Amino acid sequence: MQADSLPEALVELLAAARAVAVLTGSGVSAESGIPTFRDALTGHWARFDPYELATPQAFGRDPARVTEWYDQRRLACLQCRPNAGHAALTEIEGHVEERGGRFLLVTQNVDGLHQRAGSRRIVELHGSLHDWRCSGCAASMPLGDEPLSPYPPRCRACGQPVRPGVVWFGEMLPRDAFAAAESMVQQADLLLVVGTSGLVHPAAGLVDLAMDSGCACCQINLEPTPYTSCMRWCLQGAAGTILPSLVRKTWGDSSPA
Ligand code: OAD
Repeated sequence: MQADSLPEALVELLAAARAVAVLTGSGVSAESGIPTFRDALTGHWARFDPYELATPQAFGRDPARVTEWYDQRRLACLQCRPNAGHAALTEIEGHVEERGGRFLLVTQNVDGLHQRAGSRRIVELHGSLHDWRCSGCAASMPLGDEPLSPYPPRCRACGQPVRPGVVWFGEMLPRDAFAAAESMVQQADLLLVVGTSGLVHPAAGLVDLAMDSGCACCQINLEPTPYTSCMRWCLQGAAGTILPSLVRKTWGDSSPA
């Protein structure tokens, strides 16, 4: 999408908004080469249902298989770089804060790429692939860029299996992260919803909450989603193209201080 075809009203709102929230999903990292959650189950893993790997029950049944799958995803993410979409979101954060506005990036992603791109005001609703902890005593485990060994790794303090610090289906979201996200979407003038299918709750419910609170919502996605019909704006295309165009059209080529 070209900068000049972006809606003027969206650009004006982004330029003037006192509070901007962003909700991202795995589509924002697709252009970095990281498969979306559902696409991640390819090759050797294609025969597994994601709901069979991403649950506490799966970890209880077969911790070796679950930890290997997550460790492979962790190592693959370390090989990938943030893309132009991640970079544009850090610029939006900088511009909004430069003029005294508030900003929060709420991500469902566990890949750490927003932080590596430079995003500072961020909450990770589904935890992180780069933060493993003991399933018994919750001690955190240092990680390197080598595969963990054995699968599952054992806690040095108590010997219990160590698990990835991601939120599995059936688990609670981190309370503080979700509360911060709820509070921000209720106060935001604009919510950008980027690269998420909007199928997984409670994260997707943040969009409903924003709309109920009078926040203008803009979706950026390759495809329609269940939220397409109720968004103020739907920009169909790749996040790595649309977000930089939106930044350029709003602020020109000037970088935030
Ligand atoms: P999904 O795999 O459900 O959806 C990815 C979305 O990104 C789809 O709507 C794609 O159309 C869109 N997309 C793909 N490439 C894109 C691009 N380059 N630019 C813009 N959009 C693009 O992933 P999520 O919505 O992130 O939860 O899934 C949400 C949660 O469901 C995940 O965090 C995970 C999961 O199952 C847990 O693990 C708890």
